[in-house]
Amino acid sequence: MLANRTNDVPASGIRKVFNKIVGRSDILDLTVGLPDFDTPQYIKEAAKRAIDEGYTRYTHNAGYIETREAMAVKLKRDNNIDANPETEIMMTVGGMEALLLTNLVLVNPGDEVIYPDPGFVSHYSHIKLAGGITVPVQLRKENGFGILAEDVEKSITDKTKLLVLNSPNNPTGGVTANEEMKKIADLAVEYDFNILADEAYEQFTYGDQKPLFIGSLPEIKDRVVSLFSLSKTYAMTGWRIGTVSGPENVIGSMTRLQEHVLAMPTSISQKAAEAAVLGSQYSVREMLDTFRKRRDIITRGLNQIEGVDALEPGGAFYIFPDISEFGLTSEKLAERILDETKVATIHGSAFGEYGEGFLRICYAVSTERIEKALQILDQYLPKILPK
Ligand SMILES: Cc1ncc(COP(=O)(O)O)c(C=O)c1O
Repeated sequence: MLANRTNDVPASGIRKVFNKIVGRSDILDLTVGLPDFDTPQYIKEAAKRAIDEGYTRYTHNAGYIETREAMAVKLKRDNNIDANPETEIMMTVGGMEALLLTNLVLVNPGDEVIYPDPGFVSHYSHIKLAGGITVPVQLRKENGFGILAEDVEKSITDKTKLLVLNSPNNPTGGVTANEEMKKIADLAVEYDFNILADEAYEQFTYGDQKPLFIGSLPEIKDRVVSLFSLSKTYAMTGWRIGTVSGPENVIGSMTRLQEHVLAMPTSISQKAAEAAVLGSQYSVREMLDTFRKRRDIITRGLNQIEGVDALEPGGAFYIFPDISEFGLTSEKLAERILDETKVATIHGSAFGEYGEGFLRICYAVSTERIEKALQILDQYLPKILPK
């Protein structure tokens, strides 16, 4: 009864864990990437005003022009990207929709798409939905889980159509060095492929170096699509709002597809997003400072546990400790930890074949929960470590 494309898209390993723990108050949940902050008040007020002022109808398929103008201001200010709000920016239902539409617009059946592994689970599924061939490129622990241009180059063939980048990366917290970004841009020109830059965690980097956004490089402007999500930056996961910028023909085609699928994102969320990016960015800085403190606590705590080796993440709010010394698959270990201690983590293999041997732990949760989980893991894990 079901079409092949449906069968090609697996249920994510994250959901399986989530379904097991949902509604249970006895679990210390370190699974889903959901900031524990609430949407800042000035954004909520803007949404209420939007309702009262009648922003309750269909909008342009790319989103309100004034919302896109606000995004153009944000893109220039935060990402050094020049984009024309009339033709090169579209509002989307979260970053997720932008990922899917980019694949649908650019990838023909049989085209190869290179993507980071370990990586965000939907990258794989969206390539499959477009009929593309998935080509994982390994993110290596010894390189801080940043992507290397030389690894990308080894994966390129004459069928390569698109490269997906995601820095900071989910699930590792790895950040790609600016020099690698430049080398990757050169590869895109040399081998003639496009880039989809998933910037969902753009605001959460902890190093001193300002990240280079690949969409800001003029020499490859005609082949980069950059997506930004308000979900993490402004604690708006439930509002389902994001934005995408790219070449006019790509954004125009995505707008055409959006017309037939969703029409546009919710008008009220668009108005909230406009206020979010134009208002004071204090809440973003506050969140970043909080995540940095938690990152320090969790990195130190995990490394004190016998058998666990955790690299300090450069960004996002995930840490990806190496647990290979336990001699179990990551799925088995995560399951044992959950069943025997009630601490919920996600097995690294849920994020691709190269995620085996690791666990993903999300630290966008209270410091208290992090400390409690660390205490429990410190008591439990050494007991099951093979001698
Ligand atoms: C790397 C990455 N990209 C995109 C998304 C999609 O986020 P949203 O659709 O909420 O903007 C997520 C969500 O977790 C993510 O981790």
